[in-house]
Amino acid sequence: MPVQRTQVGIIGAGPAGLVLAHLLHLHGIDSIVVERQTREHVEKRIRAGVLEHGTVELLTEIGLARRLHRERMIHHGIELLFDGVGHRIPLTELTGREITIYGQHELVKDLIAARLDTGRPLVFAATDVDISLDEPGFSYVHDGVRHEVRCDFVAGCDGFHGVSRTVIPRSALTVYQRDYPHAWLGILAQAPPASDELVYAYHDRGFALHSMRTPEITRLYLQVRPEEPLEEWPDGRIWAELRTRLSRNDPGWHLNEGPILEKSVAAMRSFVVEPMHHGSLFLAGDAAHIVPPTGAKGLNLAVADVKVLAEAFAAYYTGHGAKLLDAYSETCLRRVWRIQHFSWWMTSMLHRVDDDPFTRQLQLSQLRYVTSSRAAATTLAENYVGLPLP
Ligand code: FAD
Ligand code: PHB
Repeated sequence: MPVQRTQVGIIGAGPAGLVLAHLLHLHGIDSIVVERQTREHVEKRIRAGVLEHGTVELLTEIGLARRLHRERMIHHGIELLFDGVGHRIPLTELTGREITIYGQHELVKDLIAARLDTGRPLVFAATDVDISLDEPGFSYVHDGVRHEVRCDFVAGCDGFHGVSRTVIPRSALTVYQRDYPHAWLGILAQAPPASDELVYAYHDRGFALHSMRTPEITRLYLQVRPEEPLEEWPDGRIWAELRTRLSRNDPGWHLNEGPILEKSVAAMRSFVVEPMHHGSLFLAGDAAHIVPPTGAKGLNLAVADVKVLAEAFAAYYTGHGAKLLDAYSETCLRRVWRIQHFSWWMTSMLHRVDDDPFTRQLQLSQLRYVTSSRAAATTLAENYVGLPLP
């Protein structure tokens, strides 16, 4: 079996794995990245769209944001829409920071190109990853041949459904989880956004979100039941539901419609494992925690984790010992729990809960408060644009 030797073996080429690989490269630390899917698949996978101010700052500092700066959309506010009236939360006025709209798959394309430029290994279609905890490393199958990777550390950046977390003995982990009685049906449409900023809509029929990718492409979401069969949502029904939930008392506003380019349903859950490492295995991003997408936080949190992890590896390899590696989990979890709370709170405030008039009144009260009190709006805004990176 061919054997490769490296310092850090990285499983997963999503935002966490690829940003970590680049940060390590800048520190002169060698790594191998293995990814289960093909390059084409990961470059087309439609996911996040909102990048925090601090995420963009980090990507800029490390030279990964050249195309992002040319093509991104900068937003200074978001809108909360309820009872047919939109209320703007002026993010930049309240926090001095803005958010960036740039598709995750575009970012992943940039990250892959940067990795390939370094000449360091990135293996796509690497299947059957088998992690060894005793002798740090893993093996994988590529083109029908099993390869072995020996390394000092393994970074499990393989998302919520990855293999890394599952090799840690259950008794060594505490799992916190909350499932929600709703999911998001998301579409990407060839239609100019109908609004300059993101619109989070609270409606009797359920939550809807109006987002975008470019001046020609709109991204829209509808609250649906979990496991909702997509066959029950022909394009006409999706548009009708979006028109209803995003409708306003202002008769001048209308939703722009166009061909649907992509359609999918995503489950919503909150999930955290503690600690985020076990021996030589370190978990980062969705492999360690999931937030419901209402706060637009998952990708940003993944980037925050690997910033901490890369600095800890750098300290280790420059003779400063394992103190930062030992503190990795605790350092990350402080931010993780803040963001867990924010994402849960946004989700609870905005999603319809069946047959629960008491909760509905609380939600409306919260929405009125957050859109009328500067203090409450600032709390939302500073979490939304992102707290400073650790
Ligand atoms: P992933 O992106 O999941 O990457 C993990 C990689 O590991 C994948 O490429 C996978 O193929 C690979 N892999 C898995 N198993 C294996 C294996 N066994 N061997 C090798 N490779 C493996 N976040 C935001 O910040 N802002 C948003 O606006 C936002 N919107 C979202 C909207 C939706 C509908 C959804 C679903 C998510 C959204 N998120 C958002 C969350 C964000 O997409 C994720 O948090 C982010 O992708 C996490 O990055 P990651 O690198 O940790 O994991
Ligand atoms: C997106 O554009 O995909 C998006 C925006 C805001 C969210 C979640 C997703 O809260």
